[in-house]
Amino acid sequence: MTTQQKTQSNINWDKVGDFILSFFRSFYYGIKEFKRFFKNDKIHKVSLFAAFNLFVFSFFYSRTLHFFAARHLNGWPSFKLHEYLVFDVNQFVLGFTGLALFYLAFIFFLGACYAHRKKKYQNNLNMLGIKNGNGDSPKVLDITPCTPGRDKIIVQSPGIPKEKYTTDGAFNTMNMAFGGYIESIDEIVNKKQVEIFLNKKPLTKACNYESVKMELTDDDSFIVGQGHSGVVTQKIAELPHLLIAGTTGSGKSNCFRQVVMGLLDSPGRKRIYLLDLKNGVEAQIFKDFPNVYISKEIETAVSLLKDLKEVMDDRYKFLERNRRNQIDPLRDSRDRIIILIDECSVLFDKSPANPQEADYTAQARSLVDSLAKLGRAAAINLVFATQKITKETLNTTVQENVEGRFAFAQKTLAGSLNVLGNKRALDIPKIKGRCIWNSFASYEEVQVPLISEKYILKRAEIEIENAKQREKFPTREEIHLRSMGRKEEAVIDGHKEVKQNGACDG
Ligand SMILES: Nc1ncnc2c1ncn2[C@@H]1O[C@H](COP(=O)(O)OP(=O)(O)OP(=O)(O)O)[C@@H](O)[C@H]1O
Ligand SMILES: [Mg+2]
Repeated sequence: MTTQQKTQSNINWDKVGDFILSFFRSFYYGIKEFKRFFKNDKIHKVSLFAAFNLFVFSFFYSRTLHFFAARHLNGWPSFKLHEYLVFDVNQFVLGFTGLALFYLAFIFFLGACYAHRKKKYQNNLNMLGIKNGNGDSPKVLDITPCTPGRDKIIVQSPGIPKEKYTTDGAFNTMNMAFGGYIESIDEIVNKKQVEIFLNKKPLTKACNYESVKMELTDDDSFIVGQGHSGVVTQKIAELPHLLIAGTTGSGKSNCFRQVVMGLLDSPGRKRIYLLDLKNGVEAQIFKDFPNVYISKEIETAVSLLKDLKEVMDDRYKFLERNRRNQIDPLRDSRDRIIILIDECSVLFDKSPANPQEADYTAQARSLVDSLAKLGRAAAINLVFATQKITKETLNTTVQENVEGRFAFAQKTLAGSLNVLGNKRALDIPKIKGRCIWNSFASYEEVQVPLISEKYILKRAEIEIENAKQREKFPTREEIHLRSMGRKEEAVIDGHKEVKQNGACDG
């Protein structure tokens, strides 16, 4: 035998070996899948299984197959019912053999499907070209369907850190390669494995604020949007500051409003300050809410920021006196203060029209800087909305303290890099309200809920009525707060004028 013939025969034997191995492997996978079927909701599934077995058994027992065959071969008259009603040992054997063969075929089919899925995921993973120091690629170990359209993929990944999967390029390629959305990638360190959650359900193209607002159960929280795995909400205290960025028409103002409304609809004591210096239109809709204060001019905005800085300094003194490190609004009878600045580039404009404005913008920058740096412990949070993020529109100190970002579509790579530090804001589908939500190290595509003016106005009416009732019948806590006559209260009450000015102007 020549060497070539030998090689040829080896290859054939390899193929035969592979075939036999994959044949038995299919049974093994099939049994695993079969067992998995009974994991949850056992009683229902076992009864269903028993009924199904009875059906398959009687199918073979009554020789229905035979009946069909006979009918086709010899025509209708060949079927005689009495033949099938007579007890016959052979028929039992036939029933059980049929049942066994059916399950063998079924388990093989299940296993083959699983093996096919596993191979597909392995190929997807190979496409990423991730390798460890020895040149080994990660290996798909197991796939578990969690809910319809959502899979958990366990990957053996020795010597490959999680970061290799989450880098910008790998993450995007992975989303494309797997043909779905990677919800999360977690490292199981002691097993040298990585757990990937893949969602294949497309994200909703529209979401309504009123249909998701019941998710606002945490204190001072807002709706982020409808994500692949459900409605995402966020407590503002955890961030502590928030950024909304996107090109014109991408849905920033709607997002800004729904965040304000979310904060108002969620439980917890808070006061909301809206600085809307572009034209004041966006904020005006909230003017009737008793705990919302609006500022439309740079002059009032700067004086408000100064007062809030004073409040912050006061709170720090309070914390020092009481040996505490953080204001808890409920425990310390102090409102959470949330300052929202729409089109913040106007407030930080470095090319103002006159020296007076230049002075105001310089002051605004430095005040916002210190509020951003120290606000967290004093229960003061900031929200910025802007089209572009540059040093000119938002100070670097402020940017460093922002841990929550709504990144709507960006037109340029630089724009995306500035908001997210990667290019994901470039690849967002062109759907209004679609954005990448980035909090700390996680990135998630979400559909931000659309909020209607009608809803906001209706809620304002209810709040006014509630405030009147509280004025008439104050709670003990409110009486206590009023009698304290703290400087903080006086400062904040002073800004009711700002609110009224805003209301009159509007
Ligand atoms: N989450 C959303 N779902 C559906 N449609 C939306 C959503 N957000 C915004 N839109 C639609 O897009 C339009 C523009 O939205 P919006 O005014 O919020 O954009 P913007 O980014 O603030 O634009 P600009 O930079 O011009 O102020 C809205 O009129 C609204 O119809
Ligand atoms: Mg806008």
